[in-house]
Amino acid sequence: MKRAEPIVCLTAYSAPMAKLLDPYADILLVGDSLGMVHYGLASTLGVTVDMMINHGTAVVRGSERAAVIVDLPFGSYQASPEQAFRTCARIMAETGCAGVKLEGGRAMAETIAFLTARGVPVMGHVGLLPQSVNTAGGYGPRGRDEREARRLIDDAKVVAEAGAFSMVIEGTIEPVAREMTAAVSVPTIDIGASPACDGQVLVTEDMLGLFGEYTPTFVKRYAQLGEAVQEAVGAFAEEVRGRRFPGPEHCFAAKKSA
Ligand code: KIV
Repeated sequence: MKRAEPIVCLTAYSAPMAKLLDPYADILLVGDSLGMVHYGLASTLGVTVDMMINHGTAVVRGSERAAVIVDLPFGSYQASPEQAFRTCARIMAETGCAGVKLEGGRAMAETIAFLTARGVPVMGHVGLLPQSVNTAGGYGPRGRDEREARRLIDDAKVVAEAGAFSMVIEGTIEPVAREMTAAVSVPTIDIGASPACDGQVLVTEDMLGLFGEYTPTFVKRYAQLGEAVQEAVGAFAEEVRGRRFPGPEHCFAAKKSA
């Protein structure tokens, strides 16, 4: 799909959400963003392999056609290629997912090559790396100075050369993300990067208005479901307190005698 039809990618953490998204998405990403969005953590660093397996299994169950990709969480792959392979083998065997995603550029090239040579389809993730937030200095956009821009373009090239089938480019200034996309032969997926990327991903709860903590610049809200939920729950609470719910139509009648 490189330079052809744009790739549609959305995050999913549960079977019912996967079922709703599956007809429209090419890729369902079980992102470690679930740590913040689903579990209320302050960052993705507290996410575990068990969490990813539980949510990955649910998403695979809820989808039919989209490729389900599961994030490798922090600490489950950075120590060595062997550690990464053991984590991937568990995630792929237990969830039935199509592949995994991991964060990192040149530093992860050896691991990506090791995994792809052993049957693990790997999606890369370059630019802003949320798992490295404590060493990389926050969530601001990457590529603003010349040296960093050159490093990011190099990251994209080595990740592709190592065998990644695609890569997410996150939080990178537009001209640099554009150049990264042009520099690689595999599709790039944008989040806060460039419309020139070969596909787009958003965190589903962000685009549906279900996650109200903050709205990054790159998020477009396509619905306000958070407000709809509050309205519905408010109506339910009012009817329960006013003894208007349940009505007779919601109750089981006694069995009629013959
Ligand atoms: O964890 C995640 O959801 C992601 C996407 C934002 C790309 O990595």
